[in-house]
Amino acid sequence: MKMILYFIPVIMMFLSCSNGNSSSEGKIPALIPAPVSISMLTGDFVFTKNSNIIIPSLDAETRLAADFLAQLINNPTGLTPDVSAGTKARKRSVFMSFDTAVKNDEGYILTITPKRIAIQAKTAVGFFYAVQTIRQLLPVEVENKKVIEGMALSVPACIVRDEPRFIYRGMHLDVSRHMFPVATIKDYIDMLALHKMNTFHWHLTDDQGWRIEIKKYPKLTEVGAFRKETIVGHAGKPPFKYDGTPYGGFYTQDEVKDVVAYAKSRFITVIPEIEMPGHAMGALAAYPELSCTGGPFEVNPKWGVMPDVFCAGKEGTFAFLQDVLTEVIDLFPGTYIHIGGDECPKTRWEKCPLCQKRIKDNGLNDENELQSWFVQRMEKFLISKGRKLIGWDEILEGGLAPEATVMSWRGTKGGIAAAKQKHDVIMTPSSSVYLDYYQCEPAGEPLAIGGYLPLEKVYAYNPMPEELTPEEQKHILGVQGNVWTEYIPTSEHMEYMAFPRAFAIAETGWTPDRLKDFEDFLARLEVLKKRYDAAGINYFRGEYRNMRVAAEKK
Ligand code: ACM
Ligand code: ZN
Repeated sequence: MKMILYFIPVIMMFLSCSNGNSSSEGKIPALIPAPVSISMLTGDFVFTKNSNIIIPSLDAETRLAADFLAQLINNPTGLTPDVSAGTKARKRSVFMSFDTAVKNDEGYILTITPKRIAIQAKTAVGFFYAVQTIRQLLPVEVENKKVIEGMALSVPACIVRDEPRFIYRGMHLDVSRHMFPVATIKDYIDMLALHKMNTFHWHLTDDQGWRIEIKKYPKLTEVGAFRKETIVGHAGKPPFKYDGTPYGGFYTQDEVKDVVAYAKSRFITVIPEIEMPGHAMGALAAYPELSCTGGPFEVNPKWGVMPDVFCAGKEGTFAFLQDVLTEVIDLFPGTYIHIGGDECPKTRWEKCPLCQKRIKDNGLNDENELQSWFVQRMEKFLISKGRKLIGWDEILEGGLAPEATVMSWRGTKGGIAAAKQKHDVIMTPSSSVYLDYYQCEPAGEPLAIGGYLPLEKVYAYNPMPEELTPEEQKHILGVQGNVWTEYIPTSEHMEYMAFPRAFAIAETGWTPDRLKDFEDFLARLEVLKKRYDAAGINYFRGEYRNMRVAAEKK
């Protein structure tokens, strides 16, 4: 048995690897995220027509990993590995078993020898992540459904012991500013699964379009999902130029169910975001009576923050939002519902008699406390339905709702403050994980919102704030990258901005900090690129290093 400890930097090793796996003996395979440990053994396991998959039981969840692996094998070979329940390993087979030796819910031990593959895990999730590791060890041909005559599939013998650093590893996607076909959303989810991320945050409503069918309020999609045109270029100073082309669309409830089911089959929870009290023009264009002034409004053709928001003084606002959330809750089985809460100007509330009455009646000091009251009311509703509220870090202003989880986006201050108040936090600071920022020098790049966030800078981010005590640190659930789409009109462009920076975030969420190494990540990425090519993903292929730091060093 030849043992090679993981984490010898492997840069040059991989550049010569052509097929995305590493069957030649001893080489450490290119895995993203890097596992906690990997030891190479001698030889390869070869999948044949006799290779079947044995799992502890045939219940739907336990089957997922086995069916996923069977499909991967089937794709280029046409083989149909049998999936059966059993407690004994067989030669030439993949044997999955629940094992108390694995302590982490998402952890696994993967043992590949020339004779068999064994996966031990505490839960079905662990089986699935082991299969994603196997997927990265398999030739890239497994990524598309084209049978190749005589195709042999093998994986190098090794032992991988693995578990995530954080329980929350997410990617967000804004489909309000621009929307993407269900097929693109599924590809996005699949890339998250490949890299062991477990959450897809779907930003479904905003000023520029409401994108989810709500049966009780048909105008949300008849009116709120369409804008008459879109601003051209940056929404800085006037005069503004518009493209004159109507833009819009929405996801039907059946499509939403399809996406949620697809994500579930990859152990990804979808968190829907329904923005309130601000970023509400999609809803207010359809139902202007929910605003302070009564409108009329249009779905916004321009980017930015709008003064008109949901009126906090009207009972009708809450009846509407609770009805909407009731349908949303039925569609999304996950624990969390995101209510936005960011960038809500208070100018209308300051002048609105009903909002002012609400402040007075409830003994509130100001409009910030009114927003907090608003969010707390929504939280009570969500809790009554057995769900938990997430909001952007503005929900700290005026006081946090008692059980709220905070997404820290304006840097890390909000997250630190929330953790100190014993609230759970997801770190998503714009300076490190906003993937709508330029990923290299802007010259020659498609127009982006601004910023400069090369892969190296994304990779360097450590979501765990040092200023927190160990007890407070337990409230940092994890990390998420955000893809805002004002300047991202197509699926190809969206993938170009998201990938590979999202893969760096996946590694930050999974791999122990002590094992992170950017040059090594780059080397592994070089190998995995062939897999992304095979999967038809349009990732960014330019300069990944932080050239501004390099320039400063000179
Ligand atoms: C945000 O970027 N407005 C959360
Ligand atoms: Zn009002």
